[in-house]
Amino acid sequence: MSALTELYKEIALCQQCEIAKFRNSVVPGEGAEDADLLFIGEAPGWHEDKQGRPFVGPAGQFLDQLLASINLTRQQVYIANVIKCRPTGNRDPLPDEIRNCNKWLRRQIELISPKMIVTLGRYSMALFFPGKSIGKIHGTAIKQDGVVYYAMYHPAAALHQQSLRKTIEADMLKIPSLLAEAKNIAEVKPEPQQLNMFAD
Ligand code: URA
Repeated sequence: MSALTELYKEIALCQQCEIAKFRNSVVPGEGAEDADLLFIGEAPGWHEDKQGRPFVGPAGQFLDQLLASINLTRQQVYIANVIKCRPTGNRDPLPDEIRNCNKWLRRQIELISPKMIVTLGRYSMALFFPGKSIGKIHGTAIKQDGVVYYAMYHPAAALHQQSLRKTIEADMLKIPSLLAEAKNIAEVKPEPQQLNMFAD
């Protein structure tokens, strides 16, 4: 059994947050265990909670189209979320939930060891680009400790706001060249708040 599958078992036992009581399934993530590209969304929604898989609802269909636009399938990348249980009533994740779930996300990152982490939406962005605004930094990348971090709007944003669709599509198209040129991207130092993401 792979280390990631072992991790899923641990995640499935987690009852640290109140929302664990209400979940149908925990949604750890899925994809290639040695993926170069790790996409991190926000939290499971209704469809994901039913199926135990990330991004399988309408936002997921758009994510699949975006991946196809760069000749990738979801089996070739890894897709995870900031939190692994569905927030009740589809509300936004709470700070405590993000903190409690952070250890799982960190272990996933360690095990997958991706070359590039793509944040989908502001909750995921906030972990890696603290204090930044999605409107300003979407479509831009930084490199830290050899990993490229790239911020994108959440695919669901295109479903609510049609005008963002083209922006999201254009941002996705930049990924292959960033990945190919990763070696040449200059390293930046993590900001102090960012180190919290990796602290126990
Ligand atoms: N939105 C997310 O952020 N994650 C999912 O898995 C589904 C929808």
